[in-house]
Amino acid sequence: MKFQVKEKKIYIETYGCQMNIADSEIVASIMNAAGYSVTGNISESDLVLINTCSIRENAEQKIWNRLKSLKALKKRNPDLMIGVIGCMAERLKETLLESNLPVDLVAGPDSYRTLPELTFHAERGQNRINTILSEDETYADIEPVRLDSNGVSAFITIMRGCNNMCSYCVVPFVRGIERSRDPESIVKEAEQLFSKGYREVTLIGQNVNSYYWEDGNSVVKFPQILERVALINPLLRVRFSTSHPKDLSDELLNTMAAHKNICKHIHLPVQSGSTRILKLMNRQYTRDWYMERLATIRRIIPECSISTDIIAGFCTETEEDHRETLSLMEWAEFDFAYMFKYNERPGTRAARNLKDDVPEEIKLKRLNEIISLQNRLSAKSKKADIGKIYEILVEGTSKRSPEYLSGRNSQNKVVVFPSGNIQKGEYVNVLIEKSTSATLIGKVI
Ligand code: 5AD
Ligand code: SF4
Repeated sequence: MKFQVKEKKIYIETYGCQMNIADSEIVASIMNAAGYSVTGNISESDLVLINTCSIRENAEQKIWNRLKSLKALKKRNPDLMIGVIGCMAERLKETLLESNLPVDLVAGPDSYRTLPELTFHAERGQNRINTILSEDETYADIEPVRLDSNGVSAFITIMRGCNNMCSYCVVPFVRGIERSRDPESIVKEAEQLFSKGYREVTLIGQNVNSYYWEDGNSVVKFPQILERVALINPLLRVRFSTSHPKDLSDELLNTMAAHKNICKHIHLPVQSGSTRILKLMNRQYTRDWYMERLATIRRIIPECSISTDIIAGFCTETEEDHRETLSLMEWAEFDFAYMFKYNERPGTRAARNLKDDVPEEIKLKRLNEIISLQNRLSAKSKKADIGKIYEILVEGTSKRSPEYLSGRNSQNKVVVFPSGNIQKGEYVNVLIEKSTSATLIGKVI
């Protein structure tokens, strides 16, 4: 290989979502092949890559602060190369190189194959940026190097990009259009993980259930790829995220119901409970349509847990719209939610066409109401589990108390229980005895 190095070390720091975590594992693999070994110790590294998120301004602020704090390291070791990769690299491009912060190279999410070359040039003060987005890059042939892995669960990226154009969202601009990965390469990666001892894979993509692969005259859609992975072995659990409500088909729900090892949890971002706001967000569904999908999930998979994302204070949101979000939450009884204040992102449809007119203090007040309602719903959902027996896949010792093991049930709830003679990667039946705000606590039976 042309840009091969001898025994250099790379340190990778990852921010943002599961896609970024999975991308860092692809980057590690590409850099390994070029002669870099991964280190967990930044001060012994020759190359630092920061994999970044752009979803909200505070995600980017975190990166700016991190780059400031890297100034001292760069001063001590001027040969150290520092690169910004990922969504913020894609969004800000040259601006990152032109800042007075230590940034030597910039690479967007579709240009990771060129990282060895970019680093080579950056070391010589030459061409050090690649933010070209691709229509077909899926990194299908690259076997990820599992970083920070518990050896039990792993992500498999099955599609990249997003065509939905939600008006608030920066993702289509930083991650490009949707493209799906060859199903054979997905199944192969899952089989390899299983044979290495992994017992859970999460199929991920910005819009995972719009997965679509066409090969001659055969078509593979999301329910089929999910089923193929589930059929590898009954001991391999399969999860997926994130789903868009518009693509949540009955076929998918029936496939989930048919296989015990497809986990009974759906992350289904609703964003708002007001049809008027959903239209402005360009979400392509109404409040009633979302409620119908939830009712269908519960009819086909009664034990399924449902989590969501909610944005408070989107453009023009009135008190009445906000009440509709609260009432939808109350009706849906979400098991879990990620909740945010609307944050205008430059270049998005909302930034161009709508006024960010909900005052900051109102956004905060509404967000707090949403959070306190969800706290109540999450507690209720956990309380309802007390007395039930769940099959738990053991992921390791509990972070809080070393005498306890930690794992999750099919519904994606974290369960801890006294260790005994159990290894990670094993399945155990646990009787739930109590719950805290984040965890279920029980004993093995
Ligand atoms: N402001 C606030 N929240 C946002 N999200 C996406 N874009 C924005 C934004 N501009 C939230 C959505 C999405 C989650 C990943 O982040 O709820 O589902
Ligand atoms: Fe952040 Fe979205 Fe990029 Fe994930 S895809 S890192 S959430 S901007």
